[in-house]
Amino acid sequence: MTVTIKSPEEIAKMRIAGRLAAEVLDYITPFIKPGITTEEIDRLCHDYMTDIQQTIPAPLNYAPPGYQPYPKSICTSVNHVVCHGVPGAKKLKSGDIINIDITVIKDDYHGDTSRMFYVGQPSIQARRLCEITFECMWLGIQAVKPGAFLGDIGHAIQDCAERHGFSVVREFCGHGIGIKFHEEPQVLHYGQPGTGLRLEPGMTFTIEPMINAGKSDIRQLADGWTIVTKDHSLSAQWEHTVLVSATGYDVMTVSATTPLPPQPTV
Ligand code: MF3
Ligand code: CO
Ligand code: CO
Repeated sequence: MTVTIKSPEEIAKMRIAGRLAAEVLDYITPFIKPGITTEEIDRLCHDYMTDIQQTIPAPLNYAPPGYQPYPKSICTSVNHVVCHGVPGAKKLKSGDIINIDITVIKDDYHGDTSRMFYVGQPSIQARRLCEITFECMWLGIQAVKPGAFLGDIGHAIQDCAERHGFSVVREFCGHGIGIKFHEEPQVLHYGQPGTGLRLEPGMTFTIEPMINAGKSDIRQLADGWTIVTKDHSLSAQWEHTVLVSATGYDVMTVSATTPLPPQPTV
């Protein structure tokens, strides 16, 4: 297992790529309304990345082993779609929830982040799932510090999800990131404290829990990319790119309007 440790120069580039990825989400936020199609969202984000930011949309033509090249520039995962939803002609409607996942390349380095959006008015259950998933991601992030274990992150996420009656998707995980989109380590969103890799300053990886309202089982659609819940229950995901700092964590994917961490209620 070769987990890269980023130099201060590399971390500076990761911070820029991370901010740019988050800024695509800031940019697209006011467009997420009933009637827009996911391919219109893809086109807007693509043009913003290439024309305004001069970033490269990392998903476009991305082809990991066993996959056909990804045909679009972003992932749009609506309702029971867990992840890797391919933008298309379907219009969003009020009550939908959608994850938009952005990965940009700037100066050779990747920034990878996703958020959930409500289209019009969400149901109480949909809102709860999105909020709890956000909390799960943050509990995972807050477990990051030198000397902690990957299993501490997974455990914090799993505990939060299951405490609220939700389930954690097992087949997809967070990942090391840098010059490569997906590198070691794999960051599981479930596990036992004190197990797995020990964290060291300079490691950069994503934390991106996929949490289902129903069972954890998933299925891949015939397009070779789109992942859905087997029981068609709602699924939510949030993602940040995180650095292990000297004393704790440093979130790379922050922008002017990144949602703030949940505030502990007394
Ligand atoms: N951005 C996704 C992740 O968080 C990966 C998408 S791969 C793609 O790892 F090809 F579907 F874009
Ligand atoms: Co990722
Ligand atoms: Co992503």
